Amino acid sequence: MSKGFSKEFLWGGATAANQCEGAYLEDNKGLSTVDVIPKGKDRFPVGLGKMKMLECDSEHYYPSHEAIDFYHRYKEDIALFHEMGFKCFRLSLAWSRIFPNGDDEIPNEEGLKFYDAVFDECLKYGIEPLVTITHFDVPVNLVKTVGSWRSSKMVEYYEKLCKVIFSRYKNKVKYWLTFNEINMLLHLPFIGAGLVFEEGENEEAIKYQAAHHQLIASAKATKIAREINPNFKIGCMLAAGNNYANTCAPEDVWRSIEKDRENYFFIDVQSRGEYPNYAKKMLKRKGIELQVEDEDAGILKNNTVDFISFSYYSSRLTSANPNINGNTEGNVFATLKNPYLKASEWGWQIDPLGLRITLNSLYDRYQKPLFIVENGLGAVDTPDENGYVEDDYRIEYLREHIKAMRDAVNVDGVELMGYTPWGCIDLVSASTGEMKKRYGFIYVDKDNDGNGTLKRSKKKSFYWYKKVIESNGMDIE
Ligand code: BG6
Repeated sequence: MSKGFSKEFLWGGATAANQCEGAYLEDNKGLSTVDVIPKGKDRFPVGLGKMKMLECDSEHYYPSHEAIDFYHRYKEDIALFHEMGFKCFRLSLAWSRIFPNGDDEIPNEEGLKFYDAVFDECLKYGIEPLVTITHFDVPVNLVKTVGSWRSSKMVEYYEKLCKVIFSRYKNKVKYWLTFNEINMLLHLPFIGAGLVFEEGENEEAIKYQAAHHQLIASAKATKIAREINPNFKIGCMLAAGNNYANTCAPEDVWRSIEKDRENYFFIDVQSRGEYPNYAKKMLKRKGIELQVEDEDAGILKNNTVDFISFSYYSSRLTSANPNINGNTEGNVFATLKNPYLKASEWGWQIDPLGLRITLNSLYDRYQKPLFIVENGLGAVDTPDENGYVEDDYRIEYLREHIKAMRDAVNVDGVELMGYTPWGCIDLVSASTGEMKKRYGFIYVDKDNDGNGTLKRSKKKSFYWYKKVIESNGMDIE
């Protein structure tokens, strides 16, 4: 049995438009939901959809507006990715760069040209783009006019976006993801789906209705993609991490199964093409009646994804006992503290074996190729005067996760297409809006308040990851 990865294995890194591009209103880009989410104490209530903020004001700082200015520096950044040996670069399109208001008649040519240029730059180096169609962004106009994904109109707008991008980039991009972390909608509904709630609304019903619309949109996108280019590979994307049971009490085990299903629900539909029975029963129990169209069942059934992609940062821990508390901080997926695990400075628990567990669970369940499109350690880096960071802690985290991934492939036989660690260049944190929560191999000189030269410099992990890719995952020391 081979000990390494296949020759085609896609090593690379991942980013998202709103966390790196900046230029938030440049070249006719429209305002997007992520542009109105401030850093600071209001970030969480806005992200939850509890506090309505659909315009920017002068009292808040909005980190997406400049981010790391990838919009103007993509050539330099992609050249650095190439230097590390990237075979793949995951990025997302900003919807409002292409349709500034979401419902425009014609797309914004300047936005389309920008992505042409980015893809050309990748292809020049033989880097395969992996494109997330929407990564936590909705044109703000669609929140104001139709209430975002609570409305079925969104499916039409999304289809229109997909037709435009699939046709335009059909010879440049092969790998597509329809929605980033589709299950995030349940946890941070404004970030995941642009949902803002009014007092007294049934939030759960709205969330599942929005989920239904995204699932239909995802299936329709898959259909359109195959019509435009049968060689496209379409994936779904899950914020993954298995729920462990807090004890071997059967009640705890059962609770962990239920918690896992909250997440699997989305992928069950996208991969198997229908609502699983447990979800139908759950919706019924909660008195939620989804508004569905006659054609929906067929659309879901006939347009399942080619592969399953996911982010993995940590496993989760669950108890059936409501009196047990001690949730970790800073993670939108409420989880108990696992005494066997260390945690990052932001309280995210570190569990490399959990990655092997997740890979096996997903592969056993779906029997489709998997792709790890996010993984990594958010940490505070202290650069020297040249911007060099001795980030052994990051290397250690990634090394252990790569080992686990290697075991899943070589020992367990999981089919894995690639690995794109998150924030391969430092970028804005999605949960906190901070810059100091860094994941990158490349340091970016910018602080939490927006000060800095934006200069890029290579960290120790840059050279380490280059070696990992060169040896196809064999030399990870
Ligand atoms: C995932 C998102 O949830 O985790 C990314 O897809 C995000 O957008 C990443 O940045 C890491 O989370 P954070 O909060 O540390 O940026």
